[in-house]
Amino acid sequence: MSDQFADPSSVTDTFAFIIHPINPKRDVSRKFPLLGKVLTEGQVNFFSAYFPPVYISEINGVRSQATGREVKGWFIACPFTPQRMLQLPVNMVYDKIVACGHKAEKLGARIMGLGAYTSVVGDAGQTIADRLDLPVTTGDSYTIMIAVEAVRKAAEVMGIPLHEATAAVVGATGSIGNVCAQMLANDVAELILVGRRADAVEEVREKCEGRRATVRTGTDMNLIYDVDLVLTVTSAINSVIEPQHLKPGAVVCDVARPRDVSKLVADQRDDVLVIEGGMVEVPGPVDFHFDFGFPPKKAFACMAETMALALEGRYENFSIGKALTVEHATEIGAICAKHGFKLSGFRSFERAVTDEQIAQVREQAQANRKHWQPMHI
Ligand SMILES: NC(=O)c1ccc[n+]([C@@H]2O[C@H](COP(=O)([O-])OP(=O)(O)OC[C@H]3O[C@@H](n4cnc5c(N)ncnc54)[C@H](OP(=O)(O)O)[C@@H]3O)[C@@H](O)[C@H]2O)c1
Repeated sequence: MSDQFADPSSVTDTFAFIIHPINPKRDVSRKFPLLGKVLTEGQVNFFSAYFPPVYISEINGVRSQATGREVKGWFIACPFTPQRMLQLPVNMVYDKIVACGHKAEKLGARIMGLGAYTSVVGDAGQTIADRLDLPVTTGDSYTIMIAVEAVRKAAEVMGIPLHEATAAVVGATGSIGNVCAQMLANDVAELILVGRRADAVEEVREKCEGRRATVRTGTDMNLIYDVDLVLTVTSAINSVIEPQHLKPGAVVCDVARPRDVSKLVADQRDDVLVIEGGMVEVPGPVDFHFDFGFPPKKAFACMAETMALALEGRYENFSIGKALTVEHATEIGAICAKHGFKLSGFRSFERAVTDEQIAQVREQAQANRKHWQPMHI
């Protein structure tokens, strides 16, 4: 097959994907270097309420390995940071995302994906979908599949036998967290569900019972101190996992954007493996025409879900609302696999993780385990 993408004017299957700044100065600089330089973080945040949706780039060359069909798409930026989305009245945020949807429709998109916090805000895409003629997905179902697959793969490379492992899901009451928990309950010996509200975590425990894992729940982050595998997916604005929370040799898959794992973990703990959940290889000679911080031809799982639905011709609302299911995740997992999307290599704090680094983490963990004591809680 050609390594050139098709003439964009001949491509009729289309999508749009909404992104937003996380780090205001850095992310604004990616599109507008001068503004990123002269405005302070506070000014970017303040003025963002008045910015219209921003056209970022055209995406070409996403091509199905199964059918050879190609789709094109567009990145559109919602100018709000997560912090701003939480501060502003939710209807104002909806209005801005709906305006992004109208821009997507004008460009010719036939489905729209809601990236990162635009999928978290309010009722997770339901109001947005109701207000637009354009079908919408949050991309969360494939995010779930890829996060769980990343945990399984990371356990393998770290030499942690999955069926004997203790795993934890932090943010277990969330739309992504609770389905990840149900899936991991089939894999591991013990599963710890951590959330902020005891009653809500108990409800998730009920969904996880009757599978392989013994399930425990709690609201204290210290519960993860002797856990082998952590999948963390809260919508907290600031980090929730600090260096003291992790045992030597632990694997942490951080799906959250902004991330849940403190940068201090990267600085202070060379005996744990932190990976970003959600990086996917995209089939075809894809060119995003925009650097969103990933290596070429790699995308977030939520972007991949939107592309795969367009490749499949499934122009319908897909992962919408807070009540996602294992069935939905499995279905999109099969669609994505068919078209050639797959889990890509690991990244940690925006850098690729090499086999040498994994070997070093294993070695350091082995040495540090001699002095490590389980915390009394
Ligand atoms: N990597 C990717 O491709 C990708 C794709 C989509 C989404 N995401 C990210 O995934 C994360 C979760 O998304 P979601 O749709 O599952 O969100 P959600 O349904 O709103 O769930 C958020 C979870 O985080 C918990 N939480 C919120 N604030 C917290 C805090 N300050 N401390 C501890 N826990 C807190 C919530 O607890 P309560 O239930 O008590 O409120 C809930 O369990 C977000 O960061 C989002 O940006 C990543």
